[in-house]
Amino acid sequence: MNKIAIVGAGRVGETSAQILAEEELCREIALLDVREDVPEGVALDIYQTAPFFEFDCRLTGSSDPRILKDAELVVITAGFPRKPGMSRSDVLEANVRIIDEVTDHILHYAPEAMVLVVSNPVDALTYRVAQRTGWPRERVFGQAGVLDASRMASFIAQETGFSVRDITTLVLGGHGDTMVPVSRFCTIHGIPLSHFVSQERIAAINERTRTGGAEILALRKSSSAYDAPGAAVATMVDAIARNRRRVLPCVAMLEGEYGEADIAMGVPCILSGRGMEAVVELDLNDAERADFARSVSAVRTDIERLRAIV
Ligand code: 2OP
Repeated sequence: MNKIAIVGAGRVGETSAQILAEEELCREIALLDVREDVPEGVALDIYQTAPFFEFDCRLTGSSDPRILKDAELVVITAGFPRKPGMSRSDVLEANVRIIDEVTDHILHYAPEAMVLVVSNPVDALTYRVAQRTGWPRERVFGQAGVLDASRMASFIAQETGFSVRDITTLVLGGHGDTMVPVSRFCTIHGIPLSHFVSQERIAAINERTRTGGAEILALRKSSSAYDAPGAAVATMVDAIARNRRRVLPCVAMLEGEYGEADIAMGVPCILSGRGMEAVVELDLNDAERADFARSVSAVRTDIERLRAIV
């Protein structure tokens, strides 16, 4: 890729930019933030790590949206983070206004771009960007499941002592307390998780995964998570920039898959140079279907709230 823009030079935006640069996933990273001077400072600071990491990736920052011009991919991290005790949905009203403005800038300056939404509540805001742009779902998708699955994998590694390299996890649904860790599809080098871990401990891991973001927020106090979210963004960008055709959970607009339409939420997808190439539909069992349905309702509640904001 030539140019990737990151909107929001906060902690998630900065961490993402650092990894994208180190991995040389593009030639240029443009950071946009409404705060004056801050994006320039973040870009300069990261660029000054180039001699250490030996990357040929330029970084620029600005509070002028023209910096988005000709970006092939725009990552939206801008928005208010939740405070301890708040849910991701509690920042919906505040963040939708930001997202609308960012979307209009993208429509104007980068009309051919793909958009990766990270700001919360990510499912509803991905839906909002898809609606406002009218672009095909291949070009508008969100990050949530890659982070949630990495949290789950780290908890399984702690529980079993096995290498995270061998652990594959899957989390579906909305990025909130109703997310659906699907332990039936979790393996340790292809061996079902249940071979090594009791149902009781799997239930505890599922619960910790569901509240993984809140756990970090409660511990950090003044900040949501950003190291793992930044790495999750970079993983998705890597799949796109290197055209890997990875199977990763993404927030995708559903068009009949899982019996749902007119909603964006986390499902396994094929992510490639073409963007969100396809949704992978799984044959869920009754319990998983019921959990997924609960998550659909939670995301639909947020989407209904969105509709009231014009
Ligand atoms: C998280 O799960 C902030 O949604 C983000 O940490």
